[in-house]
Order: sequence, then structure tokens, then C-alpha cells
Amino acid sequence: MQVAERLLNTPPYPFAELARLKAAAIADGVDLIDFGIGDPDRPTPPHIVQALREAAADPATHQYDETGKGLPEFRQAVVAWYRDRFGVSLDPEAEVLRLIGAKEGLAHLAWAVLNPGDVVLAPDPGYPVYKVASMFAGAETHFLPLHAEAGYLPDLGAIPADVVKRARLMYLCYPHMPTGALAGADFYRNLVDFARAHDLLICLDMAYSELYFDGHRPEGLLQVEGAKEVAVEIHSLSKTYNMTGWRIGYAVGNPAALNALEKLKSNVDSGAFLAIQQAAVAALSGPQDCVEEMRAIYRKRRDLLIDGLAQAGWRIPKPKATCYVWAPVPEGYTSAGLAETLLQEAGVLSTPGSAYGACGEGYVRFSLTVQGGRPEARIGEAVARIQEKVRLK
Ligand SMILES: Cc1ncc(COP(=O)(O)O)c(C=O)c1O
Repeated sequence: MQVAERLLNTPPYPFAELARLKAAAIADGVDLIDFGIGDPDRPTPPHIVQALREAAADPATHQYDETGKGLPEFRQAVVAWYRDRFGVSLDPEAEVLRLIGAKEGLAHLAWAVLNPGDVVLAPDPGYPVYKVASMFAGAETHFLPLHAEAGYLPDLGAIPADVVKRARLMYLCYPHMPTGALAGADFYRNLVDFARAHDLLICLDMAYSELYFDGHRPEGLLQVEGAKEVAVEIHSLSKTYNMTGWRIGYAVGNPAALNALEKLKSNVDSGAFLAIQQAAVAALSGPQDCVEEMRAIYRKRRDLLIDGLAQAGWRIPKPKATCYVWAPVPEGYTSAGLAETLLQEAGVLSTPGSAYGACGEGYVRFSLTVQGGRPEARIGEAVARIQEKVRLK
């Protein structure tokens, strides 16, 4: 059987590789402490599960979602959430589109707006989907290097003129996975001017918009005047409400881009389970204390890990947002080398920063979603094992 060249040229999805390493370590009898994939280890809040139960019992939810854009009550819930959270008003007909998770929307957007030979601008380090989806669409990716010294914001002025000329889409992600960095209104205002000047669509991945700490509540790009002319924001319920397996998210913003994405999606998917959309309404419109609780839990885990490792002599900056710790590797290690040492010597699974791009070299990522139970105790144990078994200086 033939496999398409576009797939043969695609490296394995980094988390598939991680899953392989993890399975091998477990098969070897290692008591693995898993800081690999960012998949919440806590259950979906009960009121959302209950809403799904009730919705799923209604046979009217068992058929195709023929709306194309998503249930009207789902889009209305997004509109209300956006108004309360960002003070941004959205037209539920033209400016909201239901997705089968953020990943699906991010990937299909490339197919919806790019032609072969176009250039895509994407953050390095960044979520691998931006590049791979652009490649599937026949576009070339130009990476925007993000560095700690610049707050992990791209230098728009440093993009070569011939690249900007061919660029049609820029992916960005704030709060930024994997570094936990944030962007503010000044950056977003410049970005809108830049996009206008160069006829670019900006796609801001906001999958982590609600995972922030110490009062650093992320701003949105659509809050900037005129942003809807050039931008879409992609949201997910996965991390905010511990709903990764449910596959539900949404895109908001520029009507022409959403229209193109809807047209593409209508040809390749048939919507999301209606009962899940109704449960998502319960998530977005219901009590939000579960989100506050989630932030407190990740903040505690972040502090346990970073303060613990600091005592062991490994200094790591505290992220303002996301469920990730972006740790500079101690001298003498590469990203992959340290990740391997952590796994082999301490049974601690992390992700090499290089999996997120060339600028991720020199870092490893720890996810604060610790798999396998007793997360806080496991973080303590990981710190103890690293201190005892891994050379850090
Ligand atoms: C930066 C980023 N965007 C999007 C997603 C995907 O979210 P979803 O589960 O809604 O597809 C992830 C998942 O880890 C992510 O890290």
C-alpha cells in the first residue's frame, strides 16, 4: 500500500514518541512519574458530566449536527462568555464557529486559507500542529524565534521582507505553550497594524486562556480595536474544564475566515455530538468556581516543583500561565540528553524542549498534569529523585 508523501515527510507527532518511551519504561518495570503530555488528571466537574447525561438521554441529540456552525445555544453561550471575560461582543451567526477541539480548528484553518507556496508564520517553540497542518496545505513555514529575553514575543520587524510578502497566516499562542508567557495590549495593537499592512490573517491559539496564576489574567487580541478585521481566536474547553477527551472548542473573530473554515469543515466532518455541545453550554454558562479551583491546584503544583528543584540547585522561572514548567537545562546537557537522563536515572518523564522547535533546545517541559494519581506526592517524589540521582550542576 502507498503512504502519501506528505505523511512520509512528517515526523512522528511528539507525543506519540513520548507514549512509546513511556510504554517502554513501564514495560521495564520503572515506577514512572509522568510529566509528559498536558492532559488534566482531574475529572470533568460533576455539573458538566450531569448535563451530558441528561442531554445524551434525549434522542434528539443522537443525530447529525446540521447547523454547520454549532448549536445556537452553544454559540450564544460563547457570546455571553466572551462578553463577560473579554468585554468583546460577537455575532453568534457570523463570528462564532464550533470546533471538534482546538487542534482540529487550528489544523483545518490552514487548509481553509492557504494555497500551495504561501508562507505561514509560526512560533518557535510552539505547538507542532501549526507547521504540520501548513505543510499538509502545501504551505511553507517560517518560524518566528521566541526568546526569554524578549518575553517570548516575536520580533515582527525581524521577519525578512520577502517572507512577509508571501505570508498569509500567522499562528500565535498566548498564554504560550510551552513557555507559559503572556502577550499584552501593546503587542496586540502592533500585531493588528502589522497584519493590516501585510494582508495577513492572525490565528491566536488561546487553549490556555484560563490557566493563569497570581492575577496575570491573559488579555485577548480581539479586545484591540479593528482586530476582527484580521484575526481569529481559537478556544478549547479541554484544559479549562478538564474535558480533553470530549473534543469541543470554538473559533471566534473574522467572519470571512470562519466562513472559509466552516465550508472546509462541512466537507470533512459532520459536527460534534449535540449532547456534548449542550454540556459545553453548562460548562460556559454554569458556576466557574471549578476553574478557580483548577488554577489553585496548578499553582500549588507549580510551586511544589519549582521551589523543590530550586532547593536541589536547579533554578527555573515560575510561569505566569499554562499548566507547564519550561525549565532551562543545566549546563552540559542538551534537551534530549536531559530528558533521557531524567527518565533513565530518576524515572521522571518530561518532554525535550527541542520537540517544540529549534528554539526549544536548551529546555525541557514538565506538564503539571501528573498522570497516575497522588500528583502532589508524586511531584515531591520526583524532586527527591532528581536531587538524589541527576547531576544538576
Ligand atoms: C497550544 C495548544 N493548542 C491547542 C491544543 C489542543 O486543544 P484541544 O484539546 O482543544 O484540541 C493544545 C493541546 O495540548 C495545545 O497545547
